[in-house]
Amino acid sequence: MLYNRGAKGRSGMKKDTLKPGERDESLSSEEDGGDSRFEALLREAAYVPPVTPRRIWPRLSKGVQLLCGRFTVKRFLGQGGMGVVYEVEDSMRRARVALKTLPFVDANGIYRLKQEFRALAGVCHPNLVGLHELFCDDGQWFFTMDLIKGVPLLEYVGDLPGSPRLKRVFAELATGIHAIHEAGKLHRDLKPTNAMVTQDKRAVIMDFGLASDQETGGAGQTAVEESVSGTPLYMSPEQAALKAASCASDWYAFG
Ligand SMILES: Nc1ncnc2c1ncn2[C@@H]1O[C@H](COP(=O)(O)OP(=O)(O)O)[C@@H](O)[C@H]1O
Ligand SMILES: [Mg+2]
Repeated sequence: MLYNRGAKGRSGMKKDTLKPGERDESLSSEEDGGDSRFEALLREAAYVPPVTPRRIWPRLSKGVQLLCGRFTVKRFLGQGGMGVVYEVEDSMRRARVALKTLPFVDANGIYRLKQEFRALAGVCHPNLVGLHELFCDDGQWFFTMDLIKGVPLLEYVGDLPGSPRLKRVFAELATGIHAIHEAGKLHRDLKPTNAMVTQDKRAVIMDFGLASDQETGGAGQTAVEESVSGTPLYMSPEQAALKAASCASDWYAFG
C-alpha cells in the first residue's frame, strides 16, 4: 500500500508517494512542529496490534480450579484434533460434567470453540451430547457439557458386523443425526471417535467442532473453516473439494 501525500522529499523534488515506514521530511521540519505531532498522533491511531500469538496451555492436572473455584478438574478424558476434554466437578450444578478447552489459544481456535458451542447449544436430544455453558477465564476459553460415562463407539461394537448391538447403535446414531438436521445444522465430522456409548447403552454423538448451518454448508464461510473441513477417511467428496456440504454429506460419513 502506498500513501499518496503529495509531499516534497529532501531533494526538493515533489514526492507523490510514501512507502510504509518511510518518513515524510516535510512534515517534521522545525517550522511545522505541530504537523510532526499530528503525524505521531495519526501513527498512533492507525496502529494495528499484532495478531494474538499462539499461547500453549499446559495440561490441567487434577485439583486445578477454574472460574473462581466453580470447576475442579478431576481427570483428563481425551484429546482430538482441536480440543482437550476433562472431567470436572461443577460446584454450582453439584455434578460431574465434561469441560472442553483448547490445548493452545489463538484466534482460529477460539473462533472454532465458540462456533462449536453455539451451533448446537440449544438442541436437546438423547443421542446428542448436551451442551451447558461457554466461559472465558483469564483468556482460557472453554465450555461444559454432559459427561458421557461410557466407552468409545468402536470399543462397544467391537468386531461384530451385522450384530444386533451394531444395528441398535446405528439406529440411535441415525436418530441423533436426524435431530441435528432438524435443527437446521450439519455435523460435518461424523466418525467413530466422535461418538460414545453410555453405560446404559445409549449412543451419543459429540464434537460439533465443524458444525455449520445447512444454508451455507460450511463452504467458504471463513479462511479458518476452509482450511479444515473434516476427516479424510469419512469425508464426502464435496467436503474434500471444499464445496458446500449438505445433509447428504453427513449421511455419507455415517456410512
Ligand atoms: N462429553 C464427553 N464426555 C466424556 N468424554 C468426552 C466428552 N467429550 C469428549 N470426550 C472425550 O474426549 C475426546 C476428544 O473430544 P472431541 O470433542 O472429539 O475433541 P476434538 O474436537 O479435538 O476432536 C473424545 O474422543 C472422547 O474420548
Ligand atoms: Mg473429535
